Amino acid sequence: MKLMICGKGGSGKSTVAALLAKQYAHVGKRVVVVDAEVSTVLGPHRLLGTGVPQDLIGYFNGEKSVREKMKALRQAEIPPETPLLGTWTYDTIPQDFSSENDGVKLVTIGKIRDTTVACKSPWMALARQFILGLDLAENDRVIVDAEAGIEHFGRGIDAACDAVLMVIDPSHESVRLAERASGMADFVNVPLYFVLNKTDVNTSPFLRKVIPAGNPIIGEFPHDPELLRAGIEGRALPGGYPVAAAVLDNLAVLQG
Ligand SMILES: Nc1ncnc2c1ncn2[C@@H]1O[C@H](COP(=O)(O)OP(=O)(O)OP(=O)(O)O)[C@@H](O)[C@H]1O
Ligand SMILES: [Mg+2]
Repeated sequence: MKLMICGKGGSGKSTVAALLAKQYAHVGKRVVVVDAEVSTVLGPHRLLGTGVPQDLIGYFNGEKSVREKMKALRQAEIPPETPLLGTWTYDTIPQDFSSENDGVKLVTIGKIRDTTVACKSPWMALARQFILGLDLAENDRVIVDAEAGIEHFGRGIDAACDAVLMVIDPSHESVRLAERASGMADFVNVPLYFVLNKTDVNTSPFLRKVIPAGNPIIGEFPHDPELLRAGIEGRALPGGYPVAAAVLDNLAVLQG
């Protein structure tokens, strides 16, 4: 299972990604978290309790080299779902470009630190290729912490995954984004599920009314001061978080 977590900036993507990763590890899965947030310098390492891995784009000799390699490979007219940059298993992910804690391995695609860079294409292409090339054993799971917004749909990152989970917090932007993603049925190549986040007794029923019907809501993380506190203090999140367990159970049922 390769699961992409998306949503608006600040909706709780990294928090949900970390809770689900920790939950998978808690029940004995080996997990790869792919940090595909290329524009946000801070990754989910603190929430996972791992170190900061080197950017994977460095393994491929940087942005220019990835761009040139992708161009050359594309001209060779290879079928779109063929991994173009190689394949990896949990064990063969380059060690210097990942960091591990408690059964969770973090891989960071790369952070655009140079503010003059206008085109994210090489990073997005690498994210897609790395996910596509991850060859999973039965006990392995992949969670992609995606860039805010829905650009990754157009870049085919969703198509490299088995399902997309959109995190929806109580905000107008989240509702609009859910509507746009839901309306992009032709674009989104895999099942799209919703999870609500940071809700309370007032916002939960209201939010449920305004988000598009048709995509299952597979879980709801109420506003939790402990999660917020762990986030602010930069502490690792726990496994065994009940909502995370419920989300993964629902996902397993829906994905068969
Ligand atoms: N259920 C929750 N209850 C309380 N606080 C939460 C909850 N989920 C997330 N938060 C807090 O909301 C803030 C944003 O969360 P997070 O960093 O996970 O969002 P994000 O979508 O990954 O943001 P970005 O777009 O910047 O990557 C953090 O301070 C986090 O601790
Ligand atoms: Mg984040």
